[in-house]
Amino acid sequence: MSSGDSTVRKVGILTGGGDCPGLNPVIRAATRRCILGGLEVLGIKNGWAGLIHADAVPLTLEAVSGILPRGGTILGTSRTNPFKRPEDAQRVQTTIRELGLDALIAIGGEDTLGVAVKLIKQGTKVIGVPKTIDNDLSNTDYTFGFDTAVNIAMEAIDRLHTTAESHHRIMVVEVMGRHAGWIATCAGLAGGADVILIPEEAIDLRAVCDTIKKRHLRGKGFSIVVVAEGAQFKDGANVSKEQKLDAFGHARLGGVGEMLGAQIEEHTGFETRVTVLGHIQRGGSPTAFDRILGTRFGVKAAELVVAGQFGHMVSLQGNKIVAVPLDERAVTMKTVDPELYELSKIFS
Ligand code: F6P
Repeated sequence: MSSGDSTVRKVGILTGGGDCPGLNPVIRAATRRCILGGLEVLGIKNGWAGLIHADAVPLTLEAVSGILPRGGTILGTSRTNPFKRPEDAQRVQTTIRELGLDALIAIGGEDTLGVAVKLIKQGTKVIGVPKTIDNDLSNTDYTFGFDTAVNIAMEAIDRLHTTAESHHRIMVVEVMGRHAGWIATCAGLAGGADVILIPEEAIDLRAVCDTIKKRHLRGKGFSIVVVAEGAQFKDGANVSKEQKLDAFGHARLGGVGEMLGAQIEEHTGFETRVTVLGHIQRGGSPTAFDRILGTRFGVKAAELVVAGQFGHMVSLQGNKIVAVPLDERAVTMKTVDPELYELSKIFS
């Protein structure tokens, strides 16, 4: 099989932003399909940082062998924004030239793909692969990593149920979800949580406490409350333990669970414990769904390279993997479907 764009011989693959289960299946599939198309493949280390510092390794069939079930990314990742400093943006172009890269496959979320959009405007040949455990990217039905995170959070909720019931306690579990509460909603639904709190709707403390008290009156001496890390109290501020921002201006979230647990205990008088799942949701082996979605995304991304169809992002629409234009519209936020969230309230 030969390349449809005869000017493309060498492709660079990079993973940017937070890691997530399913990245290695994408790297493996894209590499194998590119090699099948007669292309040479380089792995760029640590996201856009690798293009600033010219840090790359050859991706061969041997290099990607055995990585399908592995969590994380064999290429490493970072939240580097090469457009923060003009000299870094310049270095990216120099590295692309020096490494002889004709095209890039950029695997990442809103920030990484946002950089890809800027590079496309500068004339670089890029294919995007959407990634985030938060599942908050529009223009794709699902991103890989999300299913794994939901299953991990669901299992945690199952486990919290038995200890909550034994001790007649309220259990608050804080899950990831910066701008959108997909993990909270889906894990909460799958795990039978009593209250689900997401960034899309301000936390109504009184309503939360009323739900818990009503359950007690019904003879349920315990409750499970799932809260997304990005959920906000009515004052509208995110809870964050640190003021430091990353290169894309995001604060490190965390702490809403602790704050909520203390307030629930104070207002209901019921003993409350808090569990923060944190990066457990992002680590470890991907589920079958995420391995298959990652594999399909990787193959499609490589096929777009082989066909010379640059400036596109692969996307899951229904059960088909399609190509959508990689522009500002492709990297907008997808918040939780209000119908799904309303449905979850039936079970409070
Ligand atoms: O963007 C995905 C995500 O998992 C968010 O839900 C979370 O806020 C963030 O990454 C945390 O990432 P890190 O601790 O790696 O900076």
